[in-house]
Amino acid sequence: MTSHIKMIPELSKESVSMRDPQRVEETLNSMRQAGPNTLQVISDFDMTLTRFAHNGKRCPTCHNILDNSKLISEECKAKLKDLLNTYYPIEIDSSRSVDEKLPLMVEWWTKAHDLLVQQQIRKDRLAIVVEESDAMLRDGYRQFFDHLRDQDVPLLIFSAGIGDVLEEVIRQAGVFHPNIKVFSNYMDFDESGVLRAFKGELIHIYNKREGALLNTGHFQELRARHNVLLLGDSLGDLTMADGVQNLENILKIGYLNDKVEERKQSYLNTYDIVLVKDETLDVPNAILSYIT
Ligand code: C5P
Ligand code: MG
Repeated sequence: MTSHIKMIPELSKESVSMRDPQRVEETLNSMRQAGPNTLQVISDFDMTLTRFAHNGKRCPTCHNILDNSKLISEECKAKLKDLLNTYYPIEIDSSRSVDEKLPLMVEWWTKAHDLLVQQQIRKDRLAIVVEESDAMLRDGYRQFFDHLRDQDVPLLIFSAGIGDVLEEVIRQAGVFHPNIKVFSNYMDFDESGVLRAFKGELIHIYNKREGALLNTGHFQELRARHNVLLLGDSLGDLTMADGVQNLENILKIGYLNDKVEERKQSYLNTYDIVLVKDETLDVPNAILSYIT
């Protein structure tokens, strides 16, 4: 048993797998020594900060919150469901390469956003549909968000979901603290508050690297924070820290929620800590308590 496991008992949880526990230990100790002033956290949102399932039932992504809501006509709901049934299996298909999936993912996001824009969604209804949804942050979320705020550690939420929706989820949970910055797809509303488009460059599951590189200003501001804790659930999330300047240590934690057997090896190869069907933030919380 290595010493970090003694220091962080959560790393012995059944859900935890590591390719190289020794390296994890060394990284954690460097980060702990450097302290909270040198740390930044970069996290995906859907299925990373939010739960994948609850009582055996799938929890919604930002998109699903809208797709399933009363703001969408029955006809449009059926089309959005068809898109989900077509493209989600491609997203998680380990037999296809990123190059093969990428244009299909762009197609999914583009078609879904076009359908949403046709629905005349009103900005002032978003809070209600989030409230009525089954979206749930992972267990331990309050400790996670509050600890980062208390330690003045910046949290970047980097999401291919919908910024307006994810902000509402964390606002309603009472954890949208001032240390949080969001990169995501934001809705563009007309003067009467009706959705007319999405703003800026589309962020989808496989272009987070490009998204990071477009936001050099943010990473420039945080240039003294050369240690990164990265949380994700997709292999696309691995590039979220590509804009970080003067990077010294990075620890990548990956939630493996679905198609576990097929994907476990690729997650082990790329994430330092893999959490298999773990609906909690226990491991990130224990790590944060240890290093800050
Ligand atoms: O990587 P991130 O968690 O930010 O990606 C957003 C998630 O939203 C994807 O995992 C995808 O399954 C989901 N999605 C969706 N409906 C869409 C587009 C994406 O549920 N129209
Ligand atoms: Mg995700």
